[in-house]
Amino acid sequence: MNANLKNITHKNIDGKISQRENVSIKDVEQFWNNQPLFVGESVYKEGTREFFEHHSQVYIDDCFAGSIDSRIFKIDKDLPMLDLGCGIGFWVVEFYKRGFHNIVGADLSENSLKIAKERLNLYSSTLAHNVFFKKENAENLSFSNEVFNHVNCQGVVHHTPNPKKAILEIHRVLKQDGTALISVYYKNSILKNWSLFRPIAQLLKPGLSGRNREHIYKKNSIDEIVRMYDGSQNPLGLAFSRKEFVELLEPFKIYDMWYDFFPARSLKFKIPRFLHKFLSRVIPFMIFAKVKK
Ligand SMILES: C[S@@+](CC[C@H](N)C(=O)[O-])C[C@H]1O[C@@H](n2cnc3c(N)ncnc32)[C@H](O)[C@@H]1O
Repeated sequence: MNANLKNITHKNIDGKISQRENVSIKDVEQFWNNQPLFVGESVYKEGTREFFEHHSQVYIDDCFAGSIDSRIFKIDKDLPMLDLGCGIGFWVVEFYKRGFHNIVGADLSENSLKIAKERLNLYSSTLAHNVFFKKENAENLSFSNEVFNHVNCQGVVHHTPNPKKAILEIHRVLKQDGTALISVYYKNSILKNWSLFRPIAQLLKPGLSGRNREHIYKKNSIDEIVRMYDGSQNPLGLAFSRKEFVELLEPFKIYDMWYDFFPARSLKFKIPRFLHKFLSRVIPFMIFAKVKK
């Protein structure tokens, strides 16, 4: 199915009237199977050490301006956690390296899971750990109620047709007082005022290499820009305002919320780290929340 024909808009967050109803979970699964995260973006072959190192470097440099926010890891290392929508295993390995060895990595895409397993195998020195991977749909998890102490779910629920269902599932599988770290694309002032920023973008021509995204800046609609960020064939990508995100997280108590991520690699010139950090604070593209059941 041609994603461009679907005219995806984002009118409400519970999926009732939005045209993203046209996107099925099968479309989402098919896209991420065809193009797991970072595949088509690196010069290195997927599954090689060079590929994973390139991905980690881009993720940390670009999404976190050089250093991952330590709040993401402030949880008990020994208790069972779920990395939901684990993609190609970036977070599983980052947690693993910090001594977290009781993790389930779950994703809709079998091909992403295969790459994630290869990634963990490169970094795990022992088979004695309790880290494994499972194919799962975030909207309908197979786990029993109240089995995890923490769920890490970064950059996932904005790609699923019914984000609210995924949030309710996270809530269900968490133990009482369990926590989750959830991040989604943020409708920042550039996206909110795209008609004003578009002429500047026409001059700067920001674009991302690979996945057919080079002309992302030419798009008129912010829905299209957000969708295309992960690849021109991506069927679904949504950005949330703070209010929409708070509503989405409804069954949870939010105890921390912050912003990050300015995609500096999309610029044709290098910017100094301090400027990158500053832009990540003033025009962030992701919003993060730590929540408690
Ligand atoms: C942008 S990637 C993020 C991967 C990872 N969380 C990270 O931060 O590196 C989005 C991932 O979400 C997965 N995904 C999308 N919808 C999903 C769903 N309903 N259930 C499980 N995984 C899903 C995709 O397969 C893809 O691997």
